[in-house]
Amino acid sequence: MSNLIRMVYVSTTTNPVKPGNRGVQKDIGRILMQARKNNPKDEIGGVLYFSNNYFFQCLEGEQAAVNRLYKTIADDPRHENVQSVSVKRIHTRQFANWSMKYVALEDDVSRLLKESGYASFTPYEFDDDMIDKMLGLFTNAVDQTSRPDQNYNATIARNEKPGLFSRLFNGQQAA
Ligand SMILES: Cc1cc2nc3c(=O)[nH]c(=O)nc-3n(C[C@H](O)[C@H](O)[C@H](O)COP(=O)(O)O)c2cc1C
Repeated sequence: MSNLIRMVYVSTTTNPVKPGNRGVQKDIGRILMQARKNNPKDEIGGVLYFSNNYFFQCLEGEQAAVNRLYKTIADDPRHENVQSVSVKRIHTRQFANWSMKYVALEDDVSRLLKESGYASFTPYEFDDDMIDKMLGLFTNAVDQTSRPDQNYNATIARNEKPGLFSRLFNGQQAA
């Protein structure tokens, strides 16, 4: 039985960009390296977005693994005011092909914010509907920093239907 959840939290950088200092941009590079190294080991995937000094991250995976990672992340001094804004049980992952996708979509997000009545990117105020719309944008967006590196939904299908897969596999071998 899979116990998949999708958690979304928001936080504020402790390292805003200042003139002559890449600040949080450097942090984001390191965070993505850590996420892409660690998350596959725990079958965690998701997406990270940063704007207006706020992080917005979605973590998908087994409940225990996601909760464990969230605790580690919440203690990270590179951000503060870490607040979970949505936790949902899911059957399939929205970011099944990513250990951690990173998107930079200023124009698309600005358009969505305007349409939805938000004056700026203030994710602590987002309701479930707005969170789903943000994640919808991110699903189709291109990640300029990386390529899809996982196939989690296939792993789940294999675990749930071992009989079918082995029959197909054996059939192929025999043909
Ligand atoms: C906004 C933010 C998002 C992060 N996301 C992840 C993540 O998805 N996976 C991860 O392993 N670490 C993530 N981290 C880093 C963790 O807090 C922690 O530094 C890291 O897991 C330690 O990994 P290491 O023991 O391999 O150095 C994130 C940190 C921040 C500030």
